Amino acid sequence: MSVVGFSCSSFVVVIAVLVMVLNGVEVCYGGKTSQFLRKVEKTVDMPLDSDVFAVPPGFNAPQQVHITQGDHEGKAVIVSWITPDKPGSNEVLYWTEKSKQKKLAFGKVYTYKFYNYTSGYIHHCTIKNLKYNTKYYYEVGIGYSPRTFWFVTPPEVGPDVPYTFGIIGDLGQSFDSNVTLTHYERNPHNGKTVLFVGDLSYADNYPFHDNVRWDTWGRFTERSTAYQPWIWTAGNHEIDFVPEIGETEPFKPFTNRYHVPYKASESTAPFWYSIKRGPAYIIVLASYSAYGKYTPQYEWLEAELPKVNRNETPWLLVLVHSPWYNSYNYHYMEGETMRVMYESWFVRYKVDVVFAGHVHAYERSERISNIAYNIVNGHCNPVKDQSAPVYITIGDGGNLEGLATNMTEPQPAYSAYREASFGHGIFDIKNRTHAYFSWNRNQDGYAVEADALWFFNRYWHPVDESLNEQK
Ligand SMILES: [Fe+2]
Repeated sequence: MSVVGFSCSSFVVVIAVLVMVLNGVEVCYGGKTSQFLRKVEKTVDMPLDSDVFAVPPGFNAPQQVHITQGDHEGKAVIVSWITPDKPGSNEVLYWTEKSKQKKLAFGKVYTYKFYNYTSGYIHHCTIKNLKYNTKYYYEVGIGYSPRTFWFVTPPEVGPDVPYTFGIIGDLGQSFDSNVTLTHYERNPHNGKTVLFVGDLSYADNYPFHDNVRWDTWGRFTERSTAYQPWIWTAGNHEIDFVPEIGETEPFKPFTNRYHVPYKASESTAPFWYSIKRGPAYIIVLASYSAYGKYTPQYEWLEAELPKVNRNETPWLLVLVHSPWYNSYNYHYMEGETMRVMYESWFVRYKVDVVFAGHVHAYERSERISNIAYNIVNGHCNPVKDQSAPVYITIGDGGNLEGLATNMTEPQPAYSAYREASFGHGIFDIKNRTHAYFSWNRNQDGYAVEADALWFFNRYWHPVDESLNEQK
């Protein structure tokens, strides 16, 4: 028996080697593990008196100003800000460069308590019926110390409008976080909207989840979030569940501070929702809300995917915090149960790319799927699949927990490129068939793209990009 077994396995090995030779680089085991050398210094939060945390001057001046998309199509914006001393006005005054008249929109004010912390007055105001592709100015803090900002609305939803997204995850508020944000802001590829893949402030790393660190994070990021929408995904650092101090309402600080347009996509909770923006259909999923069969998120996603019209929005992007494919030792397989639930849908509906965070490093997968397993057939390996998404882990924003440097060895075949450096990504959609993705590590100038790939759209041009990459 053992001789037969040996012969069979030898035969299999010979065949496998032949296939490898015939296919050349395509079956090269694993991708690239970057040997980039970085300074491994401790990642520490910026102190409370840092200039980036400064309170804006003037009595009751609005602070922590941030915007996000306010509807499903991109014609509305949610403007949010906090006034520290008094509620003040809920109104947003807004106008275009060309308009003679200024308009007013009315919002609502919220406060919350968290253990011994009481929030400022948190304002959320949705401005509706905006024109596409238009620069708007807006003023908040009316009556005391008003401040003016601006944003540009996206182009009308359609298949061939170019649009550029920045991708940032797990940002936190360390010195490295500041480098990441600055690097993103100055990137000449000019991201117009940030897809944020979760874990915002890391306030929960402080005693009693000191919510003062939510405020400092809001002030730190304002220089970007007030001027371009950030699309929010909830991560584990947004849960803030601390029963030992009586805080049993999950996501309390996050949901009070960061509103999203979930009702516009018929979602029933702000943790999973979708938006259209220019040529992209973006689905945000919740790693930390129930996603099993019959749950609200499952039923929503099941109904949502068939609604995506690739003639209108060719690019189907998914944001989720916990990655499904990750070859670092950190958080290994934490996304596995969600993958089991939803991966076959992503293949059926030809999702172009899934962006995730959570692991504090960068990794890009091949186009692979692992959906054949049925308990008894043993088919439980990722295989190349041109209908499957590319999975990009980009939780390398620079938070105080530091880099994930330990990787599983050898590098699995599904992993195309991995590197433990802080950085950000740019997803630059050119038209219905092509998008250029690049990842910049913080240490480099913009001429250095540590990783980059031309994405071919899965609906309009489902050609294997990795062949192109290897030429
Ligand atoms: Fe996380």
